[in-house]
Amino acid sequence: MQKIVISTGGGDAPGLNAVIYAVIHSCYRLGWEVYGSRSGYKGLLNPEELQRLTLKDVEGIYATGGTILGSTNKGNPFSMPVENLAGEIQIVDISDKIMNNFQRMGFDCHIAIGGDGSLEIAHRFSLKGMPVIGVPKTIDNDLEATDRTFGFDTAVSTATEALDKLHSTAKSHDRVMVVEVMGRDSGWIALYSGISGGADVILLPEIPFDMDAVCQKITNNELHGKDYAIVVVAEGASAKGGSVINKGKGELGRSELVLGGVGEWVAAEIRQRINKDTRSLVLGHLQRGGSPTTFDRLLALRFGAAAVRMVEAGIFGHMVALSASSMVPVPLVDAIKSRKKVDLTSDKVLTARDIGICLGDYCSELKKSERTSE
Ligand code: F6P
Repeated sequence: MQKIVISTGGGDAPGLNAVIYAVIHSCYRLGWEVYGSRSGYKGLLNPEELQRLTLKDVEGIYATGGTILGSTNKGNPFSMPVENLAGEIQIVDISDKIMNNFQRMGFDCHIAIGGDGSLEIAHRFSLKGMPVIGVPKTIDNDLEATDRTFGFDTAVSTATEALDKLHSTAKSHDRVMVVEVMGRDSGWIALYSGISGGADVILLPEIPFDMDAVCQKITNNELHGKDYAIVVVAEGASAKGGSVINKGKGELGRSELVLGGVGEWVAAEIRQRINKDTRSLVLGHLQRGGSPTTFDRLLALRFGAAAVRMVEAGIFGHMVALSASSMVPVPLVDAIKSRKKVDLTSDKVLTARDIGICLGDYCSELKKSERTSE
């Protein structure tokens, strides 16, 4: 008999509930108890935020977005901002309190579902002696140690559907539509959705872009009788010699910058340089919402069931990962080492270039024979 606590941390991603569903069902089969900790570690700080999870609690949730436990991307227990009596904010380490509660409540294992930030916290608890298993979540797909994170496929589908819709309005008005997508410092969402959604230009954080190349591509479109263009820009992309546009740190206790604004910047440059009617939109949190795709559901269910098999096998301090279609344990320390970037030699990048998509670094001149308007 094991007593497990499960938490969801960081930005939500479609598939979180499917992991919880799989954990509860797998544990039920083994006769184990599972408790959900609300909003990351809140349940391990305050028992009122802890919920015993039964089959009834998770009925049908594998198909729903969000997380029934709630999530947060602020308030790292190792550096938590707390207001003192004088009203000043102090950074305190409350990890010992969480460790004590974990032991006092008789938990045997913590299954932490999260992205790099949450998995780093899980790793630090593992070093303190907490038996931890990580499950890789993020729409950004930027965890190095797993072939895929769940949530990514759904985000790409949402972005692709948006691009499909933008084509008709862009075409009707002979406009350039610039679409900013999420992904932080990695261009996975931009690349996958841009290729699948017929973008003319895709700007990635991995390739500092040159506005001359971007404008050249849009102008070249006109040589083919195409008077509109779709530009997909990753929120973490930046112009050559420029820096990533952001909105500061946002809420108290948050460790990462809030990215955003590059789409509007690119749109303004296009308007100014080639006098083309241009609009921009930010897809934002739409990419995190909604029901997980079949791919994400299945991946999340597999991660959840594999995490429980790891508990059975006594493999702690590891994250469950997808590797060449199998579920494998990877040490948490390796899982958080670095962020996965788009490989610029991969066939997806080659595909984009081969089918004429400009990736912002250059825009190859069209052959004369291809120029329909001359
Ligand atoms: O990491 C997931 C993610 O959606 C990023 O793509 C994005 O930059 C960030 O979270 C947004 O965070 P928030 O919801 O706090 O604005």
